[in-house]
Amino acid sequence: MKVFIYTGNVKREGSFLQYTVSQISQEILQILGEEIAISTYPNGKYGKIDYCDGCALCFYGEVCHLDDDVEAIKKELENSDIVIFASPVYSHAVSGSFKSFIDRITHWAHYFNLAGKIGITITVCNSNGYEDVQKYLASTMMSLGCYVTNEIVLKTAIHSKPIVNSVVRGEIRKLKRIIDQNKILIDDLQEEAFQNYKDLHLASAGIPFEKVIWIETGLMESKTYKDYFKKKSRIFK
Ligand SMILES: Cc1cc2nc3c(=O)[nH]c(=O)nc-3n(C[C@H](O)[C@H](O)[C@H](O)COP(=O)(O)O)c2cc1C
Repeated sequence: MKVFIYTGNVKREGSFLQYTVSQISQEILQILGEEIAISTYPNGKYGKIDYCDGCALCFYGEVCHLDDDVEAIKKELENSDIVIFASPVYSHAVSGSFKSFIDRITHWAHYFNLAGKIGITITVCNSNGYEDVQKYLASTMMSLGCYVTNEIVLKTAIHSKPIVNSVVRGEIRKLKRIIDQNKILIDDLQEEAFQNYKDLHLASAGIPFEKVIWIETGLMESKTYKDYFKKKSRIFK
């Protein structure tokens, strides 16, 4: 099983978010199994992420013209089974570095490119403004196709390291139960978006490149998004 973690903070020394991410990695290895490979981005090898310049050609099937590490990171993300999006709260929003990455993959939302993958959100703040960030991270993951199983919120003002450890352990135990019970809960909004896109492509009213993807991936022939998600999943049967 492969775990992909994207952290939206540049700060490394003494970072509460980095501490939380390293704890979650440890608990995943301990609770879900040693065979798991965990990669965290950005990192020393893949760290250059430029701002989207708005050309929007990715929506028409073209490889991004920006010369940075995003295409390599996207391949790792596509090849994962569990995706973790972790952001600090900056002025009641995700950090700029996190948003820069989301802008670069947002075209995937038109064909649920992360279908079959589990999504986990981590929102870290001092004390306030986390609600919008938590919601944003979860809805972004859902629009990309993930099944969001865990939404973790931690506050530096009240959560000491032992509390972080116990919250994270509880969340990964919950995740293990979900996997063991083979329990997929697809959000109504995901089903609604799936039907809307499907109608659009059946009427050939959308972007032709995306219609081809809908046909080639099997999205078009799936009755529900849940059916498609199950077909794509390497975790759930
Ligand atoms: C630019 C900036 C804006 C911030 N805005 C908020 C905020 O709106 N609410 C809040 O509770 N904490 C805010 N914080 C605190 C961070 O969310 C908190 O320090 C961080 O998530 C802890 O993780 P770190 O040690 O990894 O940076 C802000 C911090 C910075 C640097």
